[in-house]
Amino acid sequence: MKRYVLLFLLIGHMAIAQTPIDVNKEFAFATQQYGLMLKSHPDTTKFPQSTKPDGTPDDRKSDWWCSGFFGGSLWYLYERTNDPVWKEAAHKWTMAVAKEQYNTGTHDLGFMLYCPFGNGYRLTKNAAYKPIMLTGAKSLSTRFDPKVGVIKSWNKFQTYNYPVIIDNMMNLEFLFWAAKTSGNKEFRDICLTHADNTLKNHYRPDYSSYHVICYNPDGTVAAKKTAQGAADNSAWARGQAWGLYGYTVMYRETKDPKYLAQARHIADFYLKHPNLPADKIPYWDFNAPNIPNEERDASAGAITASALLELCTYGGPSAKTYYQSAVKMLESLASPAYKATLGENNNFILKHSVGSKPQKSEVNTPIVYADYYYLEALLRYDALNKKGSFKS
Ligand code: GLY
Repeated sequence: MKRYVLLFLLIGHMAIAQTPIDVNKEFAFATQQYGLMLKSHPDTTKFPQSTKPDGTPDDRKSDWWCSGFFGGSLWYLYERTNDPVWKEAAHKWTMAVAKEQYNTGTHDLGFMLYCPFGNGYRLTKNAAYKPIMLTGAKSLSTRFDPKVGVIKSWNKFQTYNYPVIIDNMMNLEFLFWAAKTSGNKEFRDICLTHADNTLKNHYRPDYSSYHVICYNPDGTVAAKKTAQGAADNSAWARGQAWGLYGYTVMYRETKDPKYLAQARHIADFYLKHPNLPADKIPYWDFNAPNIPNEERDASAGAITASALLELCTYGGPSAKTYYQSAVKMLESLASPAYKATLGENNNFILKHSVGSKPQKSEVNTPIVYADYYYLEALLRYDALNKKGSFKS
């Protein structure tokens, strides 16, 4: 009997000491799958987005908010492999978004431009990328009205003229880059004001967030709503993920402890939520009406894993929990439950995301940004393991 206990302990110990995610294997798969994606997408005006209800690929144009994710993912493949084939493909799909630098009709320029051009510039220092991003940052900043104190997300929502969605926190990283690169402090000031007003108006006492805050012209709040969540007062899963990622970036850029505290509170809300399943991939809304018979959102899982893998580097009593939770999320996403088999899933890496259930759009489908944040999280995980800061 004792011998069995000893063996069990030994196996248990080995399992803990092992790296649970084989990053090489995951990138080997990702390069194969995205190799097929490149073959099936010869036209750079048709960006991989998702799968239509009839199972065929759903492609979008460069003005769709997700157009930058494919190029961004290709840069992550280049970062990992150092293979010029990926550099060439990434450059091609990055430049395919360039005309959006003049687009003042969307707040999503952070996603559209910084994911492809920002990663491309970080990895190659290609001088052509810089002016495109700086023009894009200017276009984005036209959506900030100082009297309201936030960047306008959409031009209209229901009867409201100044809606701001929590997702908008994700554009700030782009503006911080623009401030540092151009020396124009205005970009940074916009980030601070937007983040402070979002913290004040988007968050509830339990640190969950509303999806849409509709502002009056004087900056007061007209209404607190949802567009993609289950209800106005519910916690839409991807919204929680965007906020967590956004406030983690705010702390990175400012070192202001109030943003770190906010990011930790959001993480704790998410991780301690009774409706977070054991595999740590959330339902599309933490308050979806029919849990457990609701779809999971792998994209929220990937964004959260990536954010936690940065948040854990800032220490504090929960750092290890954040790291271990992110590892669990990555383990789940890398398992057959969420990861496609080669050549299936319209060549996306991850299955089972939800774009917008109320609009019956992209429900339980692959979505391009789930892949992007999954690859980013894998790179962050690998970098942390190499540094030896955490043990899995
Ligand atoms: N930014 C839109 C979404 O997360 O669906």
